[in-house]
Amino acid sequence: MSEKICVIGTGYVGLVTAIGLSDFGNHIIGVDVDTAKIENLKKGISPIYEPGIEEYLLRNLKSKRLEFSNDIDESIRKSTVIFIGVGTPSLKSGEADLSQVISVTDTIAENLNEYKIIVTKSTVPVGTNQMIIDRIKSKTDKTFDVVSNPEFLREGKAIIDFFNPDRVIIGCKSDKARKIMEDVYRTLRINQTPFVWCNLETAELIKYASNAFLATKITFINQIANLSEKIGADVHLVAKAMGMDGRISQKFLHPGPGYGGSCFPKDTRALANIGNRLNVDMSLVKEVIKANENQKLFVAEKIRKCYKNNNIKTVAILGLAFKAETDDMRESPSIVVINELLKDNLIIKVNDPKSMDNAKIIFGDKIKYFENEFDAVKDADLLIILTEWNEYRNIDINRIKKLMNGNIIIDTRNILDGKELEKMGFKYIATGR
Ligand code: UDX
Repeated sequence: MSEKICVIGTGYVGLVTAIGLSDFGNHIIGVDVDTAKIENLKKGISPIYEPGIEEYLLRNLKSKRLEFSNDIDESIRKSTVIFIGVGTPSLKSGEADLSQVISVTDTIAENLNEYKIIVTKSTVPVGTNQMIIDRIKSKTDKTFDVVSNPEFLREGKAIIDFFNPDRVIIGCKSDKARKIMEDVYRTLRINQTPFVWCNLETAELIKYASNAFLATKITFINQIANLSEKIGADVHLVAKAMGMDGRISQKFLHPGPGYGGSCFPKDTRALANIGNRLNVDMSLVKEVIKANENQKLFVAEKIRKCYKNNNIKTVAILGLAFKAETDDMRESPSIVVINELLKDNLIIKVNDPKSMDNAKIIFGDKIKYFENEFDAVKDADLLIILTEWNEYRNIDINRIKKLMNGNIIIDTRNILDGKELEKMGFKYIATGR
């Protein structure tokens, strides 16, 4: 690949894209307005916690295929392919905030010195890529193509996902751009990764439809879990048996305290909003959004019932991140649960292997933080598991037994062995079983 590529934005998507594409043999400039971030990246320090990321970062810095810069203008001018990987957070209305995408688009237009391909990696509402085309055309006569290439990586598995995608979606109208994109992704094409070539709007919708469908699947199994608890069924066997039907599949049927993170909540809201804007019924997605909020409250209520019935004053919470292997607290169910518990003036002692700094920003001194899970559990009347970290799956239960004041465990992720715990004298409250 002779073309120079620049990736604008060094958040989750942008940074992993920059590192991954350079590992494929491309020459990449990662660009961000945040100078501190860029200085750290040049030294091989990642701004996010993500398994494997620093190893790949260092390796590609060393090979000189990957560089970082604050100079967005120059990086654009030097590059033929420009990936946009900036954030598209939710506005209060639920609509995606496109201000960063628009500002980058304008900067690209100003620096369009020769033919370039602008590739949108950020998740953007249907119609955004066309808007980018119109906006650049209104500012310059230079030729360019816009390509929609949504990213499906999961936090905590971002590196693995980038190198082993289930499929690569490329919305692209021009043959010239297609040839260059084929080259950018040559490694994946050689590896037989399926590619879906389509128009811009289809690519945009594939991303939203996929995330909304997965969010729906989780929400569905959460409601089945709540029903299982009432009727004495085991949701894991229900999910397993459902998944044996190849049309359903077992993935994303794990019950829990509700989905969180930087994508599902934001993307479901944005999809509902697109429906509102275009007057298309998106009632199913809207119900999923509502049911997921209810799920977080349902879990808080289940915990509340437990501590009210047992006159509990001190609660230990293990896990704050929205899922394991990330330090991300965005829209984490733990935020809703802890805020509910705080209404009752409980003493809340918490531990999380990675997200305590982010939790401190959210809760301040309203809860007590412990670097070690055993210190968090010490003297607690009730232990609650909110995130499925491996550290907690294999926790030394004998030690927990000695440290706790009470004997009740609420496991919102079903990661512990209830039978074993009950034999040891614990009262174990699982999810949907
Ligand atoms: C998701 C998508 O999977 C990814 O393709 C997209 O690009 C970004 O959004 P991510 O948010 O990193 O990735 O995490 P994911 O593993 O999908 O989990 C999302 C949420 O759903 C988490 O809160 C997780 O705990 C929850 N979840 C997931 C369940 O409750 N049950 C499941 O079976 C799966």
